[in-house]
Amino acid sequence: MSIIIKTPDQIEKMRIAGKLTADVLEMIAPHINKGVTTNELNQICHDFIVNEQESIPAPLDYHGFPKSICTSINHVICHGIPNDKKLKDGDIINVDITVIKDGYHGDSSVMFTVGKPTILAKRLIETAQECLNIGINMVKPGVLLGDIGYAIAKHAHEERFSVVQEYCGHGIGESFHEDPQVLHYGVRGTGVELKEGMIFTIEPMINAGKRHSKVLKDDWTVVTKDKSLSAQWEHTLLVTETGVDVLTLRSGEII
Ligand code: MF3
Ligand code: CO
Ligand code: CO
Repeated sequence: MSIIIKTPDQIEKMRIAGKLTADVLEMIAPHINKGVTTNELNQICHDFIVNEQESIPAPLDYHGFPKSICTSINHVICHGIPNDKKLKDGDIINVDITVIKDGYHGDSSVMFTVGKPTILAKRLIETAQECLNIGINMVKPGVLLGDIGYAIAKHAHEERFSVVQEYCGHGIGESFHEDPQVLHYGVRGTGVELKEGMIFTIEPMINAGKRHSKVLKDDWTVVTKDKSLSAQWEHTLLVTETGVDVLTLRSGEII
């Protein structure tokens, strides 16, 4: 495997896929309320992607994943499968959307709170987003991925949180997951050197307790071993000549 540097043509298609992905997250936001089920959220997103965007929800049938989006609640780290349980007051939920348009993928996820979150949950969610934004703001040609991973983990640890190591960001394009692996921890001065035209995700998973994870018997749902809360945010990023373009930026969002 090797890192694919995208051509201007491919970048144009990735911009479109990225924008559609951001649009799904903006569309679904007002639906995330107490009493709604994640299956209902899945259906709304599926219909929007297929019928309005004339696109494909990448998770559906991806290595056997049964739904069109991932919904990861409370101690679920990632890859949560939508089901018929209702959201309840105090839940925190990650919605992870991947859209394929014209053969190219956009991938982004957001944390939402239901009702009033605890002070801990709020701080965890904010810290995870800060970790993502710290990473994004470092992206430019010449920077090493080890430096980005180091900075992300440093911030999480300063807030007394832990960083999941078993799952990482990834190159993305015609494939959902391409090289390079983008770890959210690392050693300064090591790793892949960023070059103009690379496209990859950063998607730190930050736990309130210990970093360790396990996969449930459904073979997908990843949870914290100690059942502590977990939060994640994700963007798809293009390395430009001078820095970074966030291909999945939402309206009003400031990095
Ligand atoms: N969207 C996830 C990521 O950020 C991958 C989900 S794979 C699935 O890489 F099969 F669970 F959808
Ligand atoms: Co991803
Ligand atoms: Co994702």
